[in-house]
Amino acid sequence: MTGRISEPDQPSPPTPLAPAMVTFPATGITRIRFGEEGPDSFAVVPTGDGIPPSEERLSTGPAYATEDLRVSVDRNRDRVDVSRIGGGPILTELRASRKDDGSITIDGRVEQGSSYYGGGERTGFLDKTGEMLENWNTDANGDHTSATRRLYQSHPFVIVLCRGRAFGILFDNVQRTYMVLDRSGNGDIAFGATGGPAGLFVLEGPTVKDVLRRLADLTGHMPLPPLWSLGYHQCRWSYHPADRVRELARTFREKDVPCDAIWLDIDYMDRYRCFTWDRKEFPDPEGLIADLQEDGFDLVTIVDPGISKSVRYPVWVEGLERGYFCTTPTGEVYLGKVWPKRAGFPDFTRADVRDWWAGLNAQWIAQGLAGIWNDMNEPATFDKPDNTLPDDVMHATGAHATVHNIYALLEAAATVDGLRQARPDERPFLLTRAGFTGIQRYAAVWTGDNGAIWEHLLMAMPMCLNLGLSGVPFVGTDVGGFNYHPSAELFVRWTQLGAFSPFFRAHTREKEDQEPWSFGPEVEDICRRYIRLRYELLPYTYGCFREASLTGVPVMRALLVEHPDDPETLRCDDQYLWGRDLLVAPVYLPGRRHRLVYLPAGTWTDWWTGERHEGCCHIVAYAPLGTLPLYAREGAIIPARNYGASTKERGDELTLHVFAPTEGEAVCEVYDDDGRSLAYEHGDYQLTRIICTINDGVADVRREVVHDGYADELRFISLRVHAPVEVVAIRLDGRDVAMERDGAVAVGRASVS
Ligand code: NOJ
Repeated sequence: MTGRISEPDQPSPPTPLAPAMVTFPATGITRIRFGEEGPDSFAVVPTGDGIPPSEERLSTGPAYATEDLRVSVDRNRDRVDVSRIGGGPILTELRASRKDDGSITIDGRVEQGSSYYGGGERTGFLDKTGEMLENWNTDANGDHTSATRRLYQSHPFVIVLCRGRAFGILFDNVQRTYMVLDRSGNGDIAFGATGGPAGLFVLEGPTVKDVLRRLADLTGHMPLPPLWSLGYHQCRWSYHPADRVRELARTFREKDVPCDAIWLDIDYMDRYRCFTWDRKEFPDPEGLIADLQEDGFDLVTIVDPGISKSVRYPVWVEGLERGYFCTTPTGEVYLGKVWPKRAGFPDFTRADVRDWWAGLNAQWIAQGLAGIWNDMNEPATFDKPDNTLPDDVMHATGAHATVHNIYALLEAAATVDGLRQARPDERPFLLTRAGFTGIQRYAAVWTGDNGAIWEHLLMAMPMCLNLGLSGVPFVGTDVGGFNYHPSAELFVRWTQLGAFSPFFRAHTREKEDQEPWSFGPEVEDICRRYIRLRYELLPYTYGCFREASLTGVPVMRALLVEHPDDPETLRCDDQYLWGRDLLVAPVYLPGRRHRLVYLPAGTWTDWWTGERHEGCCHIVAYAPLGTLPLYAREGAIIPARNYGASTKERGDELTLHVFAPTEGEAVCEVYDDDGRSLAYEHGDYQLTRIICTINDGVADVRREVVHDGYADELRFISLRVHAPVEVVAIRLDGRDVAMERDGAVAVGRASVS
């Protein structure tokens, strides 16, 4: 039941499982179960009654059809085939079997030549064709290479793309699982697990975006995060004592580097006891929090699941008295070694334990903290050989091996419940290291420990992109690297990438400083510029986050999401799209001042030089240390805003970077709300469509209010019009705007108050 996984072609003869149930929970989503019927896992959100399919009785078994899919069940051969109505087969010869040890396998076949994406948090290339992906949440300690098979998160989900058409497969099994993705090049795929149900969800495309939308519908949408969480974050293991935190905050303001949040790692605690302060080092946490807030900083603290065994520690005592900790097979509290040496692990599979945990978090955050950081929640221990709880540790639902992969997901659900209890009108913020499919419902994710090595900077891209292709849009890496001290050059290049990562936080464990000013004045200037650029672009980025929360399409986007027909995009993982309209091509090798950039279809304007490039080709970008190659799509308008020291200091000027096309319109939608409360859910937001056309050299910019539920304190609009023709005049909402030139860019500024 809980043994190691084995590959599907191992000797012991498996028993075929009959296809038990085919249902259609929502349009384009098929649920297929073999063997016994059973509930969906915690990854899946309840989807209602589902779509009633039309059903045909064939001699071999039933065939079901919905608007887009046809699923036939062959009872003679225990096989299921899924095809697109009018579009041919997508997933065929699906068969499942179970061995005596309880392990299961589902085999199937997809079109030859397909490529595979997603699979969660993965090292190596973006395209996972030919790989075996294992799912077992693991503390990798920062030593991962492209050969590493297991990391902190598990996402048994894959997008299959063939000739521009996509579909997705979610293997809804939370145990130790694997996915074998066409090892021999004939389209054979296999999903296996050490136990649990033999069930799949098939998510129809045909576009990658369709698959991502259905994945969000099935496993939950990322809620819109608070705006402060999209700013720059500063972390280290650990900033302490309180005076050091105050000094850090002061330095940010003195040096005029924007920053929204400071993070406290484990050393703020009293002897690593969660929900406590080391009162010698932090004598007045509430005072500290209030002072930081005054200066525009939010404070986030780490919370680990391991609860220190100590008779003088109320959390331990309460957990013990109520029997909330996981036990050994013989019923004693299981103790694992983590920071506090001996710790109990709350059994998050129990609703009452989750309620308890929610209460602890609610109380903790009520001091004025802005968010929580969940670490070590694979769960990780220092106990050999597995560095996690042994398979046979007991939860209320069964052995640890059967819930290991969702331990962090359940913890996250409880934590967010607590944050909501404490501040029911505000958007909660949680960062987590471990997770499972569906984690985006609760938390942002960072990719755990990395190293200050160039290989990990490069790897940051496919890792975050594949998480995005697994339904997790709010992702980021430790900027600068966690292990080892980065060179100044590496730190700059990482900060540039970080400025275009959904979650943007510098973090280190080394004794050397790793703040934006720690590497000398040149690096400080460059970092300041990119951190500021992050803030300036927030109106655009916030719009992308909103899109991600509504549609599941990630902010940091593999090129193939927008250009699945272009074979060049299929393996493109050293550059990416930021939303639909910006293309980011970080430099990830030392000493490089140039790099090759692939521009997909369309015309792209160099953000820095204004040079226009026709797409569908590679260009050589000149990228000295201060330059991150960045391109805007023709037809886009990128909204930007002047910010001060943090997101709490928003200026009153909106700048519209217009990239006008030769023909037609440049368009954008600007989304705005209070950035912190849930009022937007009830209509308190502003959505403005902005359109620019160019006729006879006149750039005519018009604003159309799509939804008017939030009043902005906007006073000026600046226009920066890039156009393929000479712009002779600018108009805004029908009025002429005084125009100047900045090189080839036509520039205007109008008062709108
Ligand atoms: C491991 C985490 O990955 C890291 O970010 C953190 O600094 C240490 N634990 C200490 O809490």
